[in-house]
Order: sequence, then C-alpha cells, then structure tokens
Amino acid sequence: MKKSILCIGAGYVGGPTMAVIADRCPDYRVQVADINEARIRAWQSGEPPIYEPGLKEVVARALNRNLFFTTEIEKAIEEADIIFVSVNTPTKTFGEGAGMAADLQYWERTARQIKSCAKTPKIVVEKSTVPVRTAEAMDYILNSGGGVHFEVLSNPEFLAEGTAIRDLMEPDRVLIGGKNTPEGRAAMEALVTIYARWVPRERILTTGVWSSELSKLAANAFLAQRISSINALSALCETTGADIGEVALAVGRDSRIGPRFLGAGVGFGGSCFRKDLLNLVYLCECQGLREEAEYWRRVVLMNDHQRHRFVRGMLSHMFNTVVGKRIAVFGFAFKADTGDTRDSPAIYVCRRLVEERAQVVVHDPRALDNARVDLADLGDAVAYETDPYRAAEGAHAIALLTAWDLYAQLDYQRIYDSMIKPACFFDGRNQLDPDKLFSIGFNVYTVGRPPRTH
Ligand code: NAD
Ligand code: UGA
Repeated sequence: MKKSILCIGAGYVGGPTMAVIADRCPDYRVQVADINEARIRAWQSGEPPIYEPGLKEVVARALNRNLFFTTEIEKAIEEADIIFVSVNTPTKTFGEGAGMAADLQYWERTARQIKSCAKTPKIVVEKSTVPVRTAEAMDYILNSGGGVHFEVLSNPEFLAEGTAIRDLMEPDRVLIGGKNTPEGRAAMEALVTIYARWVPRERILTTGVWSSELSKLAANAFLAQRISSINALSALCETTGADIGEVALAVGRDSRIGPRFLGAGVGFGGSCFRKDLLNLVYLCECQGLREEAEYWRRVVLMNDHQRHRFVRGMLSHMFNTVVGKRIAVFGFAFKADTGDTRDSPAIYVCRRLVEERAQVVVHDPRALDNARVDLADLGDAVAYETDPYRAAEGAHAIALLTAWDLYAQLDYQRIYDSMIKPACFFDGRNQLDPDKLFSIGFNVYTVGRPPRTH
C-alpha cells in the first residue's frame, strides 16, 4: 500500500468522494470515519445510506479491498497520512451571525481531535465548504503548541447530488489550495498525484488557500444567481405572455451565457446554495462591504419569493381556497435522483398548503422517509403514498415539485379520470408537456408561461 487516506465525515460528500478515490487508486488504503454509527453500518453493509445513481456499484468494487468505513476515528487518525475533513458546516442557528454565518463547531472539534491523536505529520485537507480563511484558523489550532507538523490544504468539492459519481469521475476541475512554501507545495503535489490517476492534469488547478476557499462559495453563488435570474424573468413572462422556455433557449444559445442552470421553477433547494450564499453575505458584511452583501442577499430573497409566488398561484387558481381539498404533491426531494430533502422547496409548499387546510398527499420514489421526518409535526394533514396513481386519486390538484423521470412516464389520462374536476396541474419544474395535459382536460399552470385553462 502506498499511502493511507482518511476522510472524517461519511455523508453525501465524504462517502461518494472516498469511494471514487478508492476505486481509482487501488494501492491507497482509504478509510471513512463518522460519529454516526447507523450511517457507518449502512456503508459497511454495501447498501449506502444515501441514494446516488452508480454509487452502490463503485462502493462494491472497493469495499473491504482498500475502502473501509469505521467509527474508530482516533485509531484511523493515527494510521492516516492524508486526512480529508468533510463534516457538515450548516448555517449557525445561535449567537453572533445566527442565520447567516457557517457553524464551524464540527470542523473545529475535528481539528482538535486530529491534533490530539496524531503521532506523525499529516496533510489535513479541507473538503467541507467553509468561509474564507478557515484553513488559516485550522492551521493555527493544529500547529499551536509544537508537536507533529500539519500541512493544511483546501480542496473544495463541486459535485452535485444525483450526478455525484459522474461529477467525481469526470470533474470540470479539481481545485487545490495550499501555501506557497516548500511544505505547502509538497502537500499539494501529494494531492495532485492522487487526482491525476483519473483527472487530466490541465483540469487540476492549484491556487492559494484563500482563493480556493472563496472560489467554492463563488461557484455556488453564480449558479444560484442564474436560477434566481431566470425565475425573476419567469414572473415577467407570466404577466406579459412570453414563454420562459423560449426565452431561456434564446438566451442560453449565446455561447458566453450557455444553456445550463436556466431552468425556471419553484426555486432552488438543497443543503448548500442558501447556506453558502448566506455565508458569502456574512463574509461581505464582516468586511464592511454592505452593497456587495446586499447584492448576494437578493439572490436568496428572490428564491424565497419564487416559492411564495408558486403557492399564491396555486391558491388563486383554485378559487382562493384549498380548505379540505386533496392535493397530490409529486416529488419531495430537492431535485431528481436523490433522496435528500434538505431545504427542499417541497417542504415550504406542503407546509403552506397545510396552513391553508388542504389535505396533502406526498409521493416521491426515494424521499418519503425524509419527508415523514421533515413534516412530522403536521400529523394527519399529510399522507405519504408510494403509488403516484393512488396519490392523485380523488385530488383537486397535482403539484409537481421534483422532476423525477417517472413523472414523465405516467398515464395522465388515467390520473385525470380519477381526480375531482376541474382538475388542476401545477408544474413547478416545467417538466411535462402542457399541451398534452391540457388536451386530456387538465387546467395547466407552469412557471413562466401563460396558464392553459378550459
Ligand atoms: P452530511 O451532513 O451529509 O455529512 C457530514 C457528516 O459528518 C455526517 O455524517 C456527520 O455525522 C459527520 N460528522 C460531523 N461531525 C463529526 C465529527 N466530529 N467526527 C466525525 N464525523 C462527524 O454533509 P454533506 O452534504 O456531506 O456536506 C459536507 C460538507 O461538504 C459541507 O461543508 C457541504 O457544504 C459540502 N458540500 C456538500 C455537497 C453536497 O452535494 N451535499 C457538495 C459539495 C460540498
Ligand atoms: C450544487 C452545485 O451544483 C454543486 O456544484 C455544488 O458542489 C453543490 O451545490 C454543493 O456545494 O453542495 P446540488 O445542490 O447538489 O449542487 O444540486 P444542483 O443541481 O445544483 O441543484 C440545486 C437546486 O437548484 C435544485 O433544487 C434544483 O432543482 C435547482 N435548479 C437547478 C433549478 O431550479 N434550475 C436549474 O436550472 C438548475
């Protein structure tokens, strides 16, 4: 075996990333450690605790060959040469910066644990998304008071859920930030050597630590900003009669703009866009950059507004009352091909509909367990269905909130026949053909297009 790698944090990033490294570098021993025993047991069993297309197959190739999952973090730290830290960095909910700043308690705890267990020098790699200059703070904690030397690198992750394996296997770029010292350059080279096993060299960028940290926040901010921009235009389309699909196509054909991330809908969700934008806002504020902070804050506010607008549209098209009406929600995950529901727009939409006293029935092929937890306090006002046809039976309306492929395959004539009339279809992802639904008999409401009503 060449080198021993450890990743602390076996979540959506740590698990898939290490599985791919183990797969591509069979001569490295890769361990993944977590305090969550149930998660580790699931990884060890070969049935990953998260749903991600292609993940199970990659894990199966490396599991117990050179990929190991453990809760014995201290022992694993001692054994490792390179330690990735991929613990969660959620938005702070208390004290200074509450609701905006990143909560770095898990990160700092991990750094202190590494320091107390390490007997040999280590490269510590910041994989979690963190505020600029976190690596500097970690360096300070790790290297204070003498003892073994730690070299801290930043190596943010750009994978998106649902396409994580493809993103890891064929990344647009790998970003590694380190210090411009002999030790820093050597540490960066050790990490470059790992990625270069399967990533072309020209796609591996090495920068200063702070640029690397900021680039991660910046990339998410740019992506989220595109979604808020197209959603802002979608409202204008609805009032002027323009079609957001046609506008996005025409705008995206400009090679300087490009076609991706111009999908209007119910807004972005997921564990990172909101968190990282707020983190950026907080950083700007801390630097006294009020206008800049306000600029990025608007991206989040536009996303909130889009969610409100979607529910308001549902209410107004259903005669301003949904009391006692059954509404089927198609899709609860924050996007297709994942079971993750963190900050999913569906959480907001379901809560608002229940507030309006509707009877909500949620269908999702992968996210029902998480949905039950997210909406636990709503009790009987929400039902959960594994069969989309049963979910829609007797409903006044369907709200499609996650663009799972299966929703494009359903027999909508059968669904329409089983619903109360007039039957409304609210497509929050612009996934289905509105003309087809309209010709079946539905009143069809999409985002950024005029409604089609009978
Ligand atoms: P996650 O919550 O799925 O996983 C984090 C894991 O860390 C959890 O299993 C938790 O139990 C574990 N953990 C926390 N403290 C620990 C400790 N002291 N010791 C051992 N384990 C500990 O989070 P995630 O989605 O994998 O995100 C991790 C980081 O990666 C975040 O900073 C996030 O912003 C970033 N990121 C996430 C994605 C994504 O698609 N989810 C993509 C890129 C970057
Ligand atoms: C996003 C980024 O795409 C990743 O590069 C990044 O690593 C990750 O955040 C992170 O830091 O966690 P992810 O949130 O997993 O990845 O998924 P995306 O595909 O970016 O989708 C985010 C949200 O935007 C979803 O709710 C999706 O439905 C929505 N979206 C996306 C739109 O509303 N319109 C679009 O055109 C594209």
